[in-house]
Amino acid sequence: MRRKMAAGNWKMNGLTNALDEIAALRPAATNDGPEIVICPPATLIHRACAAARGSTIAIGGQDCHAQPAGAHTGDIAPAMLVDAGATHVILGHSERRQDHGETDKIVRLKTKAAWAAGLKVILCVGETEEERDASNTLDIIRGQLAGSIPGDSTAQNLVVAYEPVWAIGTGRTPTLDQIAEVHDFIRDEVTRRFCDEIGGGIRLLYGGSVKPDNAAEIFQVSNVDGGLVGGASLKAADFARIIAAF
Ligand code: PGA
Repeated sequence: MRRKMAAGNWKMNGLTNALDEIAALRPAATNDGPEIVICPPATLIHRACAAARGSTIAIGGQDCHAQPAGAHTGDIAPAMLVDAGATHVILGHSERRQDHGETDKIVRLKTKAAWAAGLKVILCVGETEEERDASNTLDIIRGQLAGSIPGDSTAQNLVVAYEPVWAIGTGRTPTLDQIAEVHDFIRDEVTRRFCDEIGGGIRLLYGGSVKPDNAAEIFQVSNVDGGLVGGASLKAADFARIIAAF
């Protein structure tokens, strides 16, 4: 049985008062409910961990560098996330791929570095609208999975998030059939590449305009083990409704 997961990606949002949202979310985190991960901006990670302490809410980063230390101004090493209290990290988000030119190879190297530091990785893949319109979705996903995921994945250290680029922050979502098609495809790909146990154990999240009013139907789709939620994770009230939709 794969445990469900609700991950919140705050992106470049949140000052000190956003920590109140973590405190407000605490009652939504239960042992028999989905695993909850909040990924605030790096400046808040340490204090977010304090706000979550004693609850089952985990805290994650939104990116890390592939090197353990060195002359990389502005970057954050995986061990620094761990030192601040993070247990997870999002890697390969389409905004990183687009804004920072991150290739599949870079995402793969970052993933290995994150694992070496003991972080669990939420690795994102997804097609652009042009790629979907050209019927290239599955080829794009296949290539991103093959290029981004290192060979030593396990069901414990890896979560894959399918996030169609055109659905992120737009209020548009794929049809449930389209989500099922890609999630079933990703399940087949990871099972073929690894083995039934690992491929069947890796959790697959859907991301892109998940909201309180569409979460329940999305979470029922085949091979959807949870959600990676941007805008609707910023307010505890919204995110708690999403968590309650499992
Ligand atoms: P959204 O973002 O929920 O605001 O569409 C999702 C994401 O980018 O992870």
